[in-house]
Amino acid sequence: MSTKIIKFSIEFEEFESVEKLNPLDQELLVKAREARSNAYAPYSHFFVGASVRLEDGSIFTGNNQENAAYPSGICAERAALFYAASQFPEKKILALAISCNSTSAEVNKPLSPCGGCRQVISEYETKQGSPIRILMAGESGSILACSGIDHLLPLRFKGEFVRK
Ligand code: THU
Repeated sequence: MSTKIIKFSIEFEEFESVEKLNPLDQELLVKAREARSNAYAPYSHFFVGASVRLEDGSIFTGNNQENAAYPSGICAERAALFYAASQFPEKKILALAISCNSTSAEVNKPLSPCGGCRQVISEYETKQGSPIRILMAGESGSILACSGIDHLLPLRFKGEFVRK
């Protein structure tokens, strides 16, 4: 008897610098980088900026907001996504860009979003019925992009499991 193996295929584009991105992605990532400077990260000293592009072309940003009671803080991705979704619930989110830097060491590889933020991205993809392009960058080094959360969170938990 043989075990059936199910395989998932995930795919990322790699760019050696921001200049290699298309103009729309470039603009979004620059905004994410700028948003790092307003991060409130007195505990980790790890500053993350996120930006989202909506279907009408507007861009909104967020950054990590930490708290002395650690779990009460929030990641940059969620700050940006929750803001956009709370203000413009009818507008689709086309893309999300993230960028980080730290005062402890230079981050020279792309930031990979935490599991909680992946789940939140997943929820908005389900809500709007279309994928969200995700651009991931560190402070330097290459940039990774993928066409949606399927590539970061395969076999994910969706509302269809709990909805009646
Ligand atoms: N953080 C983000 O904002 N986004 C991520 O994808 C990973 C981690 C924040 C949370 C916390 O404020 C700090 O980075 C260190 O974990």
